[in-house]
Amino acid sequence: MSSTTVETKTTVTPVEDFLPLYGTDYVEFYVGNAKQAAHFYKTAFGFQSLAYSGPETGNKDFASYVIRQNKLTFVLTTPLRADNAISEHIRLHGDGVKFLALKVDDATDAWKQTTQRGGKSFKEPETLKDKDGEAVISGIHTYGETVHLFIERKNYNGIFLPGFIKWESNYNPTETGLQYVDHCVGNVGWNQMNPWVKFYEDVMGFKNILSFDDNDISTEYSALMSKVMSNGNGYVKFPINEPAEGKKKSQVEEYLEFYNGEGVQHVALATNNIIETVTTLKNRGVEFLKIPASYYADVLSRVGHIDEDLEPLQELGILIDKDDEGYLLQIFSKPLQDRPTVFFEIIQRKGAKSFGKGNFKALFESLEREQALRGNL
Ligand code: FE2
Repeated sequence: MSSTTVETKTTVTPVEDFLPLYGTDYVEFYVGNAKQAAHFYKTAFGFQSLAYSGPETGNKDFASYVIRQNKLTFVLTTPLRADNAISEHIRLHGDGVKFLALKVDDATDAWKQTTQRGGKSFKEPETLKDKDGEAVISGIHTYGETVHLFIERKNYNGIFLPGFIKWESNYNPTETGLQYVDHCVGNVGWNQMNPWVKFYEDVMGFKNILSFDDNDISTEYSALMSKVMSNGNGYVKFPINEPAEGKKKSQVEEYLEFYNGEGVQHVALATNNIIETVTTLKNRGVEFLKIPASYYADVLSRVGHIDEDLEPLQELGILIDKDDEGYLLQIFSKPLQDRPTVFFEIIQRKGAKSFGKGNFKALFESLEREQALRGNL
């Protein structure tokens, strides 16, 4: 008896993405002094003045400065009065990320799709108009007091959004090679990682693409767990961290204490030449975590061949990791404000799609040295 193998071709019908996202539109920080913060981000990171909204434009409650570098747009917002929700936000959290604004084609549908699936509305779709056209903005709450805005700007040709005027400045420091938001990490409370993973799956249609448990990410003292959530096209990636039990207080716990709750831990900014970018940032006063020389003694045996010379990487403290698809170079700044809360990662991907798991131990030991110096370990 002969047997024949029947090959059946199954057509996989792609599940329709109910929330198509085209990347990060902007990241908005609530800060104590937006005029000075804008100066800092321009000076240190090479952002360019783009737009402004404030009392001169009819905005009586707050002032916002919009700065840009390539595909990165930051908004720095400060309250003008004490009896103001932004003032309360800053009193509680210090300077931090309030809005992770996402580019959509249809902000009304994005709001409908996500709120129907259990997302808590922050802002019903609103059409903003001026002489340059109209934009639609809606939003839902995510962890802590952080909000995802949906920005539809296909019918808008102005400088940023209605209500903003062009910000002309005589001070235009050169750019530093920062390109776009690679990913944006949230710190959530004890046992809150999985509920937030479920939120991104159910409400926003994201998938969990990577997980790290406390065996991957632990040092002698502290630990954390992390799951990386990605939207369908991979343009938007949100790793979610929660603290894990360790001998001493973990970096996530320190964050939760000083931020007074859950929030954005770091924004990863991509560059095409990390050595040049980080050299410039350091020269302009940006401070990074220090990595011990021992890290570099055996790093190449772990990651294999890399195009760059090891020497400048070691000098700058840039970390290297690899996965099946290539390698990546990354470095982490110290906190961007006095509270030990939000910081930046600078990342250059050379094929790798992962997040630097091989560096976690070296990195966390460095973070713990900083924590110990602050007396919070
Ligand atoms: Fe990261």
